[in-house]
Amino acid sequence: MIELALASAEATEAMGARLADTLPPGCVVYLRGELGAGKTTLVRGLVRALGHAGPVRSPTYTLLEPYTVAGRQIVHLDLYRLADPEELEFLGLRDFLDGRSIFLVEWPERGRGFLPPADLIIELQHTAAGRLCRLAAASARGEAALRQGPWRRLPAGETLPSESSPIKLEL
Ligand SMILES: Nc1ncnc2c1ncn2[C@@H]1O[C@H](COP(=O)(O)OP(=O)(O)OP(=O)(O)O)[C@@H](O)[C@H]1O
Ligand SMILES: [Mg+2]
Repeated sequence: MIELALASAEATEAMGARLADTLPPGCVVYLRGELGAGKTTLVRGLVRALGHAGPVRSPTYTLLEPYTVAGRQIVHLDLYRLADPEELEFLGLRDFLDGRSIFLVEWPERGRGFLPPADLIIELQHTAAGRLCRLAAASARGEAALRQGPWRRLPAGETLPSESSPIKLEL
């Protein structure tokens, strides 16, 4: 597990940008954390880092927003308003289960049983200093992604932009 302190929204975006280089095709990421924890901010950082210039908002009403950028397909889901996990059947998720699309899912617990299993679980939590971000692998592919992640190359104690606390690595 990797634990990162993110002192500002920019740091959360920078975290997302780092993930852009790390996530393999077909990777499924569950983004956990209460309302306003920074899940969409992290997705924005990731999608922008790949070169998407337009806005990146939570697909609160459409639930699903696909991005094709830098030859990659990113599928951003926000299931907060999903009343019943079975509704996921009608979102056309199947079309993206091609082993290439990267899934980033906000409120995955609301789609339980109807989502592909997670490779990586990212949890964001409010703290006095901003947000705490925890990354945990949930599959061999997720584990490999974490091991290759750019933070592996960071010397001990080096921080992401705007970070105030040290990175704790437990791999
Ligand atoms: N590390 C951080 N420190 C302080 N503020 C942050 C940090 N990361 C994100 N924010 C801010 O938190 C607010 C909420 O962020 P965001 O919309 O990404 O949350 P969310 O988890 O997607 O919420 P929701 O569950 O409602 O979709 C935004 O104003 C964003 O700029
Ligand atoms: Mg959101």
